Amino acid sequence: MLFTSTQAFATLMLVSSAFAVALPNAEPEPQPVEIVVEGETIVEFAQIQCGNEPHGLKPICPHLNSTGNHGCVRYVKGFDVTGVVTEVDLTFPEINDACDCIQACLNRPTTCAAYVYKFSTMASVLSGHRTCTLYSQFNLPSEVVIEIDVASTNNSNINAQELVANGNNPQNGALVGQTFMDANLNSTVDHDAVSGVVWQLSTGKAIC
Ligand SMILES: *[C@@H]1O[C@H](CO)[C@@H](O)[C@H](O)[C@H]1NC(C)=O
Ligand SMILES: *[C@@H]1O[C@H](CO)[C@@H](O)[C@H](O)[C@H]1NC(C)=O
Ligand SMILES: *[C@@H]1O[C@H](CO)[C@@H](O)[C@H](O)[C@H]1NC(C)=O
Repeated sequence: MLFTSTQAFATLMLVSSAFAVALPNAEPEPQPVEIVVEGETIVEFAQIQCGNEPHGLKPICPHLNSTGNHGCVRYVKGFDVTGVVTEVDLTFPEINDACDCIQACLNRPTTCAAYVYKFSTMASVLSGHRTCTLYSQFNLPSEVVIEIDVASTNNSNINAQELVANGNNPQNGALVGQTFMDANLNSTVDHDAVSGVVWQLSTGKAIC
């Protein structure tokens, strides 16, 4: 696993939270227990009585201090869920791991909502360092196409220059693409690439 060196989970960490509504004379409700096992991506939830949700994604980057839930669970490995608008390109050594990439998005709360930490170019593959790219939106579904009027002064912070230079205007919807780690970026899937969301909540917290 890519992140084991950067995260602070104990081998087995139990986290319980109280969902129970206080009812007089009611039996104590079973508490959901999240069991995080280092080296595994999936979290087991034990003692959940009410649903069919036995698994959840293991939180990553618990040390990111502005996250409301002590880490990120809204991420995807092996795929790139990002869109194309407001592109910011960051590289090693500023970005050394996926948590640095998420932090870079958190550091731009007014312009960043999506990040991807992956091999984005042949040069990045040859260097052995994934890149971090930030955006303000996500991949469009396959039959949606949006063209931005880049000449309009109504646009703010869309990074139109890069949008046009990369041939991303119009933005064509597509199935969410896999991430690769071979030099041509088209055959060997990189399961350790990470992409996901950072949502700035109106309460001042960020969730990711
Ligand atoms: C979060 O961490 C960053 C970088 O370490 C620091 O600059 C910032 O003050 C911290 N914010 C809070 C709320 O602790
Ligand atoms: C900006 O938006 C307003 C409506 O909100 C519109 O009337 C105006 O024509 C737009 N300006 C440009 C340059 O597209
Ligand atoms: C990957 O890209 C290379 C170079 O463009 C091409 O020769 C090769 O056929 C591609 N492989 C696949 C599986 O698409």
